[in-house]
Amino acid sequence: MQDITDAPFWRVMTRYGGPDVYYTEYFRVHQDSRPERHILAAIEENPARRPVIAQMIGQDIPSLVRTAEWLQKRAIAGIDLNLGCPAPIVCRKEAGGGLLRNLPKIDAILRELRGAVHLQFTVKTRLGYDRPEEFPALLDVFCAHAIDALTVHGRTVREMYGPVVHYDAIAKAAATMPCPVFANGNVRDVDSARRITEITGAAGLMIGRGAIRNPWIFQQIRDAAEGREPFAPTRVDLRAYIEVLHRETCASAMREEGQVGKMKKYLGHIAPGLGGEDTFWRELRPALTLRELFAICDRHLAEPLPLDMPVLPETQMVGMMM
Ligand SMILES: Cc1cc2nc3c(=O)[nH]c(=O)nc-3n(C[C@H](O)[C@H](O)[C@H](O)COP(=O)(O)O)c2cc1C
Repeated sequence: MQDITDAPFWRVMTRYGGPDVYYTEYFRVHQDSRPERHILAAIEENPARRPVIAQMIGQDIPSLVRTAEWLQKRAIAGIDLNLGCPAPIVCRKEAGGGLLRNLPKIDAILRELRGAVHLQFTVKTRLGYDRPEEFPALLDVFCAHAIDALTVHGRTVREMYGPVVHYDAIAKAAATMPCPVFANGNVRDVDSARRITEITGAAGLMIGRGAIRNPWIFQQIRDAAEGREPFAPTRVDLRAYIEVLHRETCASAMREEGQVGKMKKYLGHIAPGLGGEDTFWRELRPALTLRELFAICDRHLAEPLPLDMPVLPETQMVGMMM
C-alpha cells in the first residue's frame, strides 16, 4: 500500500508473524521513471526473508519492460502489474484501474511483460472500471497470457473502497483461471478470512488495510488453519502495537509534525469504529502533538478488553497518495 508498506512497516509486520509473500508498493513506470529508492530499500532489506513481489503501475510498454528487466536483477520472486489503483490522477493517464477501459492495451502489455519476465509474473486487478459485468471479458484476456497468479480486489474502480465486495466475481475467477487466484477486499480477521476463502474458493488471500488494524492477522489465520487457538489481542495489545509502529517507522530525525502525520496515517485505519460513536478517531484527528496523540490512545486502550475487528469503514481518498 502506497505510503504504508515500506521497509519499516514490513519490519513491524514480521514481528507479528507477517504474510507468506510481501508485495511492494507500486513502482510508478513511465518514460523517464527510475525505480523509487524507498521501495527498493524494502526489497533489499526484506526483513522477513520471505518472497517479495515488486509491483509496477504504468501503461508505456517499453518502459514497463525496461523496469521489469531492471527489477529482475534484484532479490525478488516476481513482478506484479497493478490494474486496480482508482486514483483519478492515475486513471486519467490510463494506468492502474484506468487500463480496465482498454482491454486491447492490457492484452498487449501482458504479452510483452510475460515475454520479459522470467520470474513469477502476476496481476492485481479490480472487476472492471464501471460495472462488475465487465469482469468476464477481462478474465478472457488474463487467461490468454500464462500469468502465474491473479489477485482480484472484488470491486470496480467506480466502487473505490465502498461497502460492497463482489465475492461471487472472485469465485468466478477462481473457477475459470488456470493459475491460482487470490481474493482481496475486507479480510480483517479469522472469521472473514475463513468465510471469504470458502465462498470464493480462492487459493489465497491478499490482505491490505486489515493488516494495519490487526497485525496479528497472518499468524491468526495460520494458527486457525493448523488447529491452534489464534491469539486474541486486547486493547492493551493494540496500544503496545501502536508504540511499536511509532518506534519502527518514525525516525528520530523526523520533525514532530511529520511523526504525528505519519501516525495518523496508520491510526486512520486502526481507530475508526473502535469505541462507541467513533470517539477514539474523532479525538485523534485534531491532535497536533505526539503527547496528545498517545494520551488519547492511553485513554481508549487502557483496559484489557477483547479487540473486536469491526467492518472496515469506507476508506476516505482525501489526502491519500496513490
Ligand atoms: C492507502 C492505500 C494504499 C494502497 N496502495 C496500493 C498499492 O500500492 N498497490 C495495490 O495493489 N493496491 C493498493 N491499495 C489497495 C489495497 O491493496 C487493497 O486492494 C484494497 O485496500 C482492498 O483490500 P483490503 O480491504 O484488504 O484493504 C492501497 C489501498 C490503500 C487503502
